[in-house]
Formats: sequence, C-alpha cells, structure tokens
Amino acid sequence: MAEVIVVSTPGSAGTLVADHISSRVEQQPQFVLGVATGSTPLPVYGALSERANEGVDFSQVQAFALDEYVGLPASHPESYHSVVDREVVRPLGLSRELVHVPDGALGSIQTAGERFEQLLAASGGVDLQILGIGGDGHLAFNEPGSSFGSLTRVKTLTQATREANARFFGSVDDVPIHSVTQGLGTILRARHLVLLAFGEAKAKALAASVEGPVTSSVPGSAIQLHHHVTVVVDEAAASELQHRDYYDWALQHKPSWQGL
Ligand code: GLP
Repeated sequence: MAEVIVVSTPGSAGTLVADHISSRVEQQPQFVLGVATGSTPLPVYGALSERANEGVDFSQVQAFALDEYVGLPASHPESYHSVVDREVVRPLGLSRELVHVPDGALGSIQTAGERFEQLLAASGGVDLQILGIGGDGHLAFNEPGSSFGSLTRVKTLTQATREANARFFGSVDDVPIHSVTQGLGTILRARHLVLLAFGEAKAKALAASVEGPVTSSVPGSAIQLHHHVTVVVDEAAASELQHRDYYDWALQHKPSWQGL
C-alpha cells in the first residue's frame, strides 16, 4: 500500500518533498530525478529552488522528464523542453547536459522512444520520480487503456487531456494531438514514486489510483504494483479516499527511522 500523506496546502507538500529530495542529493550528488510537468509539481520546484539558493548543489543531478509533445519546436514556450528549462533547470542550477526530455521532433520520432529508454538505462535508473495525475487518471501521457508494461513511445492524447491542457495554449486546437511519453512500465522502474495531487478535480482519479482495482482503465492504479510509493495530497484531493483514517493513523505512528 502506498503511504498517503495529507497536507494542508500545496506549499507544505512542496516543502516536504523538496526537503526529502535535497537531503538525498546531499548524500548522493549524482542523484537521478524524474521530473513531471503540469501545475502540480510547481510547489516542489519552488521549494527546491529555495534550497538551491541556500546552498544545496544540484549541479551533478541528472533529470529525466516524463513526456513531450510531438511536433512542437523545443523552443516553443509550452514545449516540455521549455517548461523543464524554465521551472526546473534554471531555478535549481541543473547542468543542461544532464537533463533529458523525450525528443518530440517529427523528423526523428520513429526512434525517440528507444533513444530515451537507452539514456534512462545508461543513467542507472531514476532514483525518485515526481508524478502528477490527470483528472482521468493518466500518468505522464499514458491515457486510460495504456499497458502497464509500456515503455517510452508515441501516444495519442485524448480530447479531455487536450482540453485540460488548452489553458497553456491559445485554444484546444493549438494543443498537439500526439506526445512521446514514458510508458507505465518505464515509470514503474523508478526506485521511488512520489505522486502529488491537489484540488477536488483530482479526488476521484486519486482514490481510484490508490485504492481502486488495478486496471489499465485507470493508469494511475499502476502505482499499486510498485514497492515504494509516497502520495502527497491536500484535503480536497484526499476527499474520496476510503481509508483516510488509516493513513493518518499510520503517519502518526510512523517510526522515526522510516523516511518518506
Ligand atoms: C499533463 C502531464 C502530466 C500531468 C498532468 C496533470 O497531461 N503530461 O504529467 O500530471 O497533465 O497536470 P496538472 O498538474 O497541471 O493538473
């Protein structure tokens, strides 16, 4: 069962997760961090940039992004290359050559998945993967129905995901139709998954992922197959959880030797 930590605000989730990552990086400077895009992880990146300003050195950290749009130039402000650069690389002081985002260029798309999997393998694997979740339960761009064994590949976005992401573009028609995304099988290889969710709009998908049947109809439910998952949510996102009392009880009695 995942450890579920309910916090009062996204800001406190950001502090909790950033403090954990920072202490891991201090012990292991070449830490491999899996980064997600979307609004949810922003408080973590904000808190991490504060740690960087306080002197934590992230310059040897390798980072791997979950996904990228297909056909959007890397220089487009909403490409995940740009988003990762803006929200993570620059504020944390990561070294650009150690940061990898799947290649969404049309000309080389046939081999994008395989090349990304090779880079991941060469890194020794992701130590901690930050995850958000879509309102329909998608992880990265693994839409409902995605195989739990899937690796990095091209995936067609659902109309619901395109509408949800239209806020970053002029209109839904400007949102690309395809993505290149780590598969659920890729994500499950990370050594520690940290799933974040905030707000009522995520409550159903979160409960289905944490407590519902393990089914490809809810890609987030793949986390139940992983040996080390920490779920950090606010009250609104936790509102549909059935075993909330147990999570709080377990957290209250957590042994001091057990970390995040
Ligand atoms: C996108 C990303 C996902 C992200 C999801 C939720 O589709 N590919 O990685 O988890 O949106 O986004 P948000 O955090 O903005 O709600």
